[in-house]
Amino acid sequence: MSGPAAGSAYDSPAAVAARAAACRTWSELADAARRCTACPDLVRSRSTVVVGDAPAGSRVVFVGEAPGAEEDATGRPFVGRSGRLLDELLAEAGLDRAGVAVLNIVKCRPAGNRTPRAAETASCSGWLNRQLGMLAPEFIFTLGLSAMKHFLGGGLSLASARGTVHEVPAGRLVATYHPSAALRFGPLGAPRTALREDLATLAELLAGP
Ligand code: URA
Repeated sequence: MSGPAAGSAYDSPAAVAARAAACRTWSELADAARRCTACPDLVRSRSTVVVGDAPAGSRVVFVGEAPGAEEDATGRPFVGRSGRLLDELLAEAGLDRAGVAVLNIVKCRPAGNRTPRAAETASCSGWLNRQLGMLAPEFIFTLGLSAMKHFLGGGLSLASARGTVHEVPAGRLVATYHPSAALRFGPLGAPRTALREDLATLAELLAGP
Protein backbone atom coordinates (compact mmCIF):
# COMPACT_ATOMS: atom_id res chain seq x y z
CA MET A 1 0.00 0.00 0.00
CA SER A 2 1.35 3.45 -0.80
CA GLY A 3 1.62 6.21 1.79
CA PRO A 4 3.92 8.92 3.02
CA ALA A 5 7.63 8.37 2.40
CA ALA A 6 9.63 6.88 5.27
CA GLY A 7 10.65 9.56 7.71
CA SER A 8 7.84 11.93 6.77
CA ALA A 9 5.82 13.47 9.55
CA TYR A 10 3.06 11.77 11.47
CA ASP A 11 -0.38 13.38 11.21
CA SER A 12 -1.09 15.18 14.44
CA PRO A 13 -3.44 13.48 16.91
CA ALA A 14 -5.72 16.52 16.46
CA ALA A 15 -5.93 15.96 12.68
CA VAL A 16 -6.90 12.29 13.13
CA ALA A 17 -9.35 13.18 15.91
CA ALA A 18 -11.01 15.75 13.62
CA ARG A 19 -11.43 13.13 10.86
CA ALA A 20 -12.83 10.65 13.38
CA ALA A 21 -15.17 13.24 14.89
CA ALA A 22 -16.67 13.89 11.45
CA CYS A 23 -17.80 10.24 11.22
CA ARG A 24 -21.44 9.76 12.15
CA THR A 25 -21.68 5.98 11.96
CA TRP A 26 -19.48 2.97 12.63
CA SER A 27 -19.23 2.18 8.93
CA GLU A 28 -18.20 5.76 8.07
CA LEU A 29 -15.54 5.52 10.75
CA ALA A 30 -14.37 2.13 9.48
CA ASP A 31 -14.05 3.49 5.92
CA ALA A 32 -12.15 6.55 7.10
CA ALA A 33 -9.83 4.55 9.38
CA ARG A 34 -9.05 2.13 6.53
CA ARG A 35 -7.77 5.09 4.50
CA CYS A 36 -5.67 6.46 7.39
CA THR A 37 -2.05 7.32 6.53
CA ALA A 38 -1.18 9.07 9.80
CA CYS A 39 1.78 6.83 10.71
CA PRO A 40 4.34 6.36 7.91
CA ASP A 41 5.92 3.14 9.21
CA LEU A 42 2.58 1.50 9.98
CA VAL A 43 1.25 2.31 6.51
CA ARG A 44 4.19 0.33 5.15
CA SER A 45 3.96 -2.61 7.58
CA ARG A 46 0.20 -3.18 7.44
CA SER A 47 -1.81 -4.98 4.80
CA THR A 48 -5.16 -4.11 6.39
CA VAL A 49 -6.40 -1.68 9.01
CA VAL A 50 -7.97 -3.73 11.80
CA VAL A 51 -10.83 -1.45 12.80
CA GLY A 52 -12.28 -3.77 15.45
CA ASP A 53 -15.38 -5.82 16.25
CA ALA A 54 -18.40 -3.99 17.61
CA PRO A 55 -21.49 -6.17 17.96
CA ALA A 56 -24.67 -4.18 18.57
CA GLY A 57 -25.52 -3.74 22.23
CA SER A 58 -22.12 -4.75 23.62
CA ARG A 59 -21.78 -3.51 27.20
CA VAL A 60 -18.06 -4.15 27.38
CA VAL A 61 -15.16 -3.23 25.13
CA PHE A 62 -11.94 -5.24 25.27
CA VAL A 63 -8.93 -3.17 24.26
CA GLY A 64 -5.61 -4.72 23.21
CA GLU A 65 -2.41 -3.26 21.83
CA ALA A 66 -2.14 -3.73 18.05
CA PRO A 67 -2.90 -6.37 15.43
CA GLY A 68 -0.49 -9.26 14.88
CA ALA A 69 0.09 -11.25 11.70
CA GLU A 70 -3.22 -13.16 11.65
CA GLU A 71 -5.21 -10.05 12.50
CA ASP A 72 -3.43 -8.15 9.73
CA ALA A 73 -4.21 -10.95 7.26
CA THR A 74 -7.88 -11.27 8.21
CA GLY A 75 -8.75 -7.70 9.21
CA ARG A 76 -10.20 -8.88 12.55
CA PRO A 77 -8.82 -8.32 16.07
CA PHE A 78 -7.64 -11.15 18.32
CA VAL A 79 -8.00 -14.07 15.91
CA GLY A 80 -4.46 -15.47 16.33
CA ARG A 81 -3.10 -17.54 19.24
CA SER A 82 -3.82 -14.81 21.80
CA GLY A 83 -7.34 -14.45 20.45
CA ARG A 84 -8.03 -18.14 20.63
CA LEU A 85 -6.92 -18.21 24.26
CA LEU A 86 -9.04 -15.13 24.97
CA ASP A 87 -12.09 -16.86 23.46
CA GLU A 88 -11.45 -19.93 25.63
CA LEU A 89 -11.09 -17.88 28.84
CA LEU A 90 -14.15 -15.78 27.97
CA ALA A 91 -16.21 -18.94 27.53
CA GLU A 92 -14.92 -20.29 30.88
CA ALA A 93 -16.13 -17.06 32.52
CA GLY A 94 -19.54 -17.48 30.87
CA LEU A 95 -18.95 -14.58 28.46
CA ASP A 96 -19.57 -14.82 24.73
CA ARG A 97 -16.97 -13.31 22.39
CA ALA A 98 -19.76 -12.61 19.89
CA GLY A 99 -21.39 -10.27 22.43
CA VAL A 100 -18.38 -8.11 23.29
CA ALA A 101 -16.61 -5.39 21.33
CA VAL A 102 -12.89 -5.90 20.69
CA LEU A 103 -10.61 -3.02 19.71
CA ASN A 104 -6.93 -2.13 19.80
CA ILE A 105 -5.23 1.12 20.76
CA VAL A 106 -3.37 0.95 17.41
CA LYS A 107 -5.17 -0.36 14.34
CA CYS A 108 -2.25 -1.27 12.06
CA ARG A 109 0.28 -4.04 12.56
CA PRO A 110 3.73 -2.78 13.60
CA ALA A 111 6.57 -4.57 11.77
CA GLY A 112 7.82 -7.59 13.69
CA ASN A 113 5.09 -7.03 16.30
CA ARG A 114 7.12 -4.30 17.96
CA THR A 115 5.40 -2.23 20.63
CA PRO A 116 3.62 0.76 19.05
CA ARG A 117 5.46 4.07 19.42
CA ALA A 118 4.00 6.86 21.53
CA ALA A 119 3.36 8.97 18.38
CA GLU A 120 1.46 6.06 16.79
CA THR A 121 -0.67 5.49 19.87
CA ALA A 122 -1.35 9.22 20.12
CA SER A 123 -2.39 9.50 16.45
CA CYS A 124 -4.57 6.41 16.58
CA SER A 125 -6.31 7.54 19.77
CA GLY A 126 -8.60 9.75 17.64
CA TRP A 127 -10.15 6.63 16.11
CA LEU A 128 -10.32 4.78 19.43
CA ASN A 129 -11.90 7.69 21.28
CA ARG A 130 -14.55 8.12 18.60
CA GLN A 131 -15.25 4.36 18.68
CA LEU A 132 -15.64 4.47 22.47
CA GLY A 133 -17.92 7.49 22.14
CA MET A 134 -20.11 5.62 19.66
CA LEU A 135 -20.21 2.41 21.70
CA ALA A 136 -20.61 4.11 25.10
CA PRO A 137 -19.58 0.92 26.93
CA GLU A 138 -20.31 0.33 30.59
CA PHE A 139 -16.95 -1.41 30.99
CA ILE A 140 -13.57 -1.21 29.31
CA PHE A 141 -11.39 -4.27 29.84
CA THR A 142 -7.78 -3.57 28.93
CA LEU A 143 -5.47 -6.40 27.89
CA GLY A 144 -1.80 -5.77 28.68
CA LEU A 145 0.38 -2.87 29.71
CA SER A 146 0.13 -0.70 26.57
CA ALA A 147 -3.67 -0.57 26.69
CA MET A 148 -3.70 0.03 30.45
CA LYS A 149 -1.15 2.86 30.14
CA HIS A 150 -3.15 4.44 27.36
CA PHE A 151 -6.08 4.99 29.72
CA LEU A 152 -4.44 5.24 33.15
CA GLY A 153 -1.07 6.79 32.32
CA GLY A 154 2.43 5.47 32.83
CA GLY A 155 2.63 5.79 36.61
CA LEU A 156 0.98 2.46 37.49
CA SER A 157 2.21 -1.09 37.09
CA LEU A 158 -0.22 -3.63 35.70
CA ALA A 159 -0.08 -5.55 38.98
CA SER A 160 -1.12 -2.46 40.94
CA ALA A 161 -3.83 -1.45 38.44
CA ARG A 162 -5.50 -4.89 38.71
CA GLY A 163 -8.23 -5.49 41.26
CA THR A 164 -9.73 -1.97 41.09
CA VAL A 165 -12.51 -0.64 38.90
CA HIS A 166 -11.07 2.63 37.56
CA GLU A 167 -13.42 5.42 36.51
CA VAL A 168 -12.21 6.93 33.21
CA PRO A 169 -14.11 9.31 30.90
CA ALA A 170 -15.03 6.48 28.50
CA GLY A 171 -16.43 4.12 31.14
CA ARG A 172 -15.47 1.90 34.10
CA LEU A 173 -12.14 0.24 33.45
CA VAL A 174 -10.77 -3.12 34.56
CA ALA A 175 -7.12 -3.82 33.67
CA THR A 176 -5.58 -7.23 33.21
CA TYR A 177 -2.75 -9.09 31.48
CA HIS A 178 -2.49 -9.61 27.76
CA PRO A 179 -3.34 -13.17 26.64
CA SER A 180 0.14 -13.34 25.05
CA ALA A 181 1.61 -13.17 28.58
CA ALA A 182 -0.72 -15.99 29.60
CA LEU A 183 0.58 -18.02 26.64
CA ARG A 184 4.21 -17.18 27.45
CA PHE A 185 3.98 -18.23 31.10
CA GLY A 186 1.92 -21.34 30.36
CA PRO A 187 -1.30 -22.80 31.74
CA LEU A 188 -0.15 -22.65 35.37
CA GLY A 189 1.53 -19.24 35.14
CA ALA A 190 0.43 -16.18 37.12
CA PRO A 191 -0.85 -14.19 34.09
CA ARG A 192 -3.34 -16.91 33.12
CA THR A 193 -4.61 -17.13 36.71
CA ALA A 194 -4.93 -13.34 36.80
CA LEU A 195 -6.79 -13.21 33.48
CA ARG A 196 -9.20 -15.89 34.72
CA GLU A 197 -9.82 -13.97 37.96
CA ASP A 198 -10.31 -10.65 36.17
CA LEU A 199 -12.72 -12.13 33.61
CA ALA A 200 -14.70 -13.65 36.49
CA THR A 201 -14.80 -10.19 38.10
CA LEU A 202 -16.01 -8.68 34.82
CA ALA A 203 -18.74 -11.33 34.52
CA GLU A 204 -19.88 -10.46 38.08
CA LEU A 205 -19.87 -6.74 37.31
CA LEU A 206 -21.95 -7.35 34.16
CA ALA A 207 -24.39 -9.50 36.13
CA GLY A 208 -24.83 -6.45 38.41
CA PRO A 209 -25.73 -6.19 42.09
N1 URA B 1 -2.64 -8.68 20.20
C1 URA B 1 -3.32 -7.51 20.35
O1 URA B 1 -3.00 -6.73 21.23
N2 URA B 1 -4.34 -7.28 19.53
C2 URA B 1 -4.73 -8.12 18.58
O2 URA B 1 -5.69 -7.82 17.88
C3 URA B 1 -4.01 -9.32 18.45
C4 URA B 1 -2.98 -9.58 19.26
